[in-house]
Amino acid sequence: MSNSSFTMPSVEYLSYKGVPFPHVAVTEESLDQMENEFRFLNDDVAIVTYPKSGTIWMSEILGLIRQKGDPAWTHSLPMWDRSPWIETSLGLKIALRSPPPRVLCSHVQFQLFPKSFLQSNAKIIYTLRNPKDVLISFYYFSMLSRLFKDPGTLEEFMEEFLSGNVAYGSWFDHVKGWMALKGRPNFFYITYEELWQDLRGSVEKICHFLGKELNSQQIDSVVEYASFRKMKENKMSNFSLIPDHLMDHKRGTFMRKGICGDWKNHLTVPQNKYFDRVYQEKMWGMNTTFPWD
Ligand code: A3P
Repeated sequence: MSNSSFTMPSVEYLSYKGVPFPHVAVTEESLDQMENEFRFLNDDVAIVTYPKSGTIWMSEILGLIRQKGDPAWTHSLPMWDRSPWIETSLGLKIALRSPPPRVLCSHVQFQLFPKSFLQSNAKIIYTLRNPKDVLISFYYFSMLSRLFKDPGTLEEFMEEFLSGNVAYGSWFDHVKGWMALKGRPNFFYITYEELWQDLRGSVEKICHFLGKELNSQQIDSVVEYASFRKMKENKMSNFSLIPDHLMDHKRGTFMRKGICGDWKNHLTVPQNKYFDRVYQEKMWGMNTTFPWD
């Protein structure tokens, strides 16, 4: 198991309706404005994820689909301008001035999402990932990001993660809240594991959901430029443009490993058993089976 052997300046979270948020990026006003005033347009597409579940990957895929596989746009505009995070003050401003059709991003739980969504035909793409891999990715990202609390040891972080005491709250609440939309025509969900197993097939499904027709060559290009290797090189997506006061680039990179099952390299047998027990308790009653179940 990994131990963190350094100290970070202490970071406090903003609690909004019981959910912790990193309050450098997110304010009570931006959350309130997003929830109550932000108007969804019928041709909006929102990428919704719990952190570390494949947000930037989906943003790259949608950016490439929008451009029919041409990477010029995803290679020239930072990801947060292409698909702004609507719960952040800056992202909200960018979203409001973006011309339609907009691609938006959000990490918030369903109950905090803009109320206007339910009165619109806007589309949601919900991407979720094996929570054990989310835990590990989140743990390492917390060491880099100065917006997130020092994760401490993995054991300590796992405890906070399982009790929902981390930025953006409980993975379980997030998944249960959003998956309740399953079956609605404007809600599509996909797992990181499916993207990883079959990126081409996943891109085709996403195109179908969005009503976009791409030819075979265009899909090949989306798949090529959304690969881990290409995205790691794309400075508009790999977070290398994030300034040092927000991310400590000396400690690692955002595009860390990009694999499924890295948790096996980190969790001990008792930790894994404990995780499974909590998972079963908290997911009891869910009628969806995921690739990791
Ligand atoms: P790891 O830390 O496990 O490597 P998010 O964008 O929601 O913060 O998720 C980040 C995770 O997605 C990181 O996982 C990152 O490496 C992974 N990722 C990003 N682009 C990817 C791609 N093209 N292929 C596979 N994984 C990708």
